[in-house]
Amino acid sequence: MNNIKSQSDIKKMRVAGKLASEVIDMIGSYVKNGVSTEELNEICHNYIIDVQQAIPAPLNYKGFPRSICTSVNHQVCHGIPSKEKILKNGDIINIDVTVIKDGFHGDTSKMFLIGKPSILADRLCKITKECMYKAIEIVKPGLHIGDIGAVIQEHAHKNSFSVVREYCGHGIGESFHESPQILHYGVKNTGIKLEEGMTFTIEPMINAGKKNVKLLSDGWTVVTQDKSLSAQWEHTILVTKNGYEILTKREEEDCLI
Ligand code: MF3
Ligand code: CO
Ligand code: CO
Repeated sequence: MNNIKSQSDIKKMRVAGKLASEVIDMIGSYVKNGVSTEELNEICHNYIIDVQQAIPAPLNYKGFPRSICTSVNHQVCHGIPSKEKILKNGDIINIDVTVIKDGFHGDTSKMFLIGKPSILADRLCKITKECMYKAIEIVKPGLHIGDIGAVIQEHAHKNSFSVVREYCGHGIGESFHESPQILHYGVKNTGIKLEEGMTFTIEPMINAGKKNVKLLSDGWTVVTQDKSLSAQWEHTILVTKNGYEILTKREEEDCLI
């Protein structure tokens, strides 16, 4: 069925989610002008292995060569950390962390702003975060999965931004990616209904320009076709009896439910 987690699975998902969120908190102070995305990768990799005694899920996943994804400016997702990619003032970067602990995955990402980005870049990051939170807030048993996409699409379009269609959120647990797929666009009252015990990610990718994307020749990095800026935020969510629990919630988000 739809991968309903047991109480013991959920305990392990909470641990994995917390660890992933702590990597994002830990890396924050290093994300600044002059640092390479390879350095950020190394710091996260060592922290996950040595401090958390966990596994960085992206490393060697379908051949991905690094331990985190770093997607800068017009890169949409799955950017490969490299020595050559040096962050500079005005850049925006998504850092996407997935850890495996005790066999279970926690997957989360956020946008970091370097120095003083443009008003547009700033607004794109903020609206994309709102798209994610608006979707999270409606999660509860019985919700049609199409409602998640509809809420995200509505908020993005209202702000003249577009929604990437080629990549989506996903069920998560002992597998990195499992059913159901969580589309970030859609029609209300369509699709399967959520059930208590499901765990999945919501990870909208929102473009300042057109929705179209292309894959670079490295086989991983996804960029906007029109070179417009793109932003993404991601959390791993548990469907509870009455609503949701954000398994990857960070300390700075403690004001949230
Ligand atoms: N963390 C990404 C997600 O949110 C997946 C990265 S796959 C990788 O689903 F191979 F690029 F790491
Ligand atoms: Co994900
Ligand atoms: Co992710």
